[in-house]
Amino acid sequence: MLKGKTILLGVTGGIAAYKAVELLRLYVKAGAEVFVVMTKSAREFVTPLTFQTLSGNPVHTELFNLYQEQEIGHISLADRADLVVVAPATANIIGKVAGGLADDLLSTTLLATKSPVFFVPAMNVNMYENPLYQANQKKLEGFGYYFLEPATGYLACGWEGKGKLPEPQTIFEESLRLLSPRDLNGETVLVTAGPTREELDPVRYLSNYSSGKMGYAIARIARQRGARVILVSGPTALAVPCGVEMVQVASARQMRDAVMARLAEATVVIKAAAVADYRPTKRAEHKIKKGQEAELELILEKNPDILAELGQCKTTQLLVGFAAETTELVENARKKLETKNLDLIVANDVSRSDAGFDVDTNAVRLLYRDGSSEELPLLSKDEVARQLLDRIAKLRHPSA
Ligand code: CTP
Repeated sequence: MLKGKTILLGVTGGIAAYKAVELLRLYVKAGAEVFVVMTKSAREFVTPLTFQTLSGNPVHTELFNLYQEQEIGHISLADRADLVVVAPATANIIGKVAGGLADDLLSTTLLATKSPVFFVPAMNVNMYENPLYQANQKKLEGFGYYFLEPATGYLACGWEGKGKLPEPQTIFEESLRLLSPRDLNGETVLVTAGPTREELDPVRYLSNYSSGKMGYAIARIARQRGARVILVSGPTALAVPCGVEMVQVASARQMRDAVMARLAEATVVIKAAAVADYRPTKRAEHKIKKGQEAELELILEKNPDILAELGQCKTTQLLVGFAAETTELVENARKKLETKNLDLIVANDVSRSDAGFDVDTNAVRLLYRDGSSEELPLLSKDEVARQLLDRIAKLRHPSA
């Protein structure tokens, strides 16, 4: 994910400095080369050795260190980063950069770098709300520095309020967004994901094995690449992706209404949800009791085919469907592409144990409207999402 990327992680002196260790681990796990610069106060909270061990690179702490200067030098540190992240960022470092001060290695590096800089502030709520601090942040934002809003909660100083460092996973995802190509800027991508639930009575429902992983990966990565994303999701156990507008639904009819209500805003619609084709004709008001009969018959009626309806009423939207098949993958998927009036369909062989429902990998074939198709190898769902969005970006802007 971050192979070939270099991140300079600045750690300043706040109690949340320990969370920077987990953030570093996430960057390294994703393949990034990370160099850590710590301020003097940061070293009161976490030792440089921890960061050094996890990054595999020497940790830089001193502005005038002959050995480090020879090896790297603060200017070269500033030059080689694709992204500079300061987490946690104290009011002090933000104030220093806003004032153009450079009196230690981190502030000097921040002043010298031409790379994008991403501050993740964490401090006492009163400090955060202080107009002096707010003016500094505003000033830096005006110059193009990125900021992540602090989380709200119980603060180490005993106060309750805004000022907590967001979870490392959230900071990591925001970093991915800042490092991604912005080829979906200006697009509004409407994604559906997960299963639907069709209720039988107050305690039972009909559903399927969809985990939502494919649709959530598409939503998360589309957002990283600059799109506004609306995610209409059936019930899943997944965390809401960062920065995505979430609409929770349960039944196919609720999903249909949520999608139709937002269609006019969308430029791209991707229907990754596993929608139940049928629902019980009647939902019992009370729990269905066990009777004397050995068998119980359920009568089902057809649900709306949301994708087919979208194919009928779309205007300029690019419409992408999924086809879950267990036999005759290509033939069945092409039929769906044509009858539902799609631009692209992702054909999914759900009979394979390493593809489709509730696994982390997927093997798909992409079929296009002009009759062409391409097969992707077995990939992680994130990578399938990335490749699918590459194709979608191209279809939206063929000359780019
Ligand atoms: N779909 C939908 N509404 C439905 C059923 C399916 O919007 N009621 C969408 C799915 O989100 C997917 C595509 O249609 O993008 C194909 O779904 P799939 O389950 O593969 O096919 P069906 O059209 O339901 O046909 P069949 O079950 O007969 O294969």
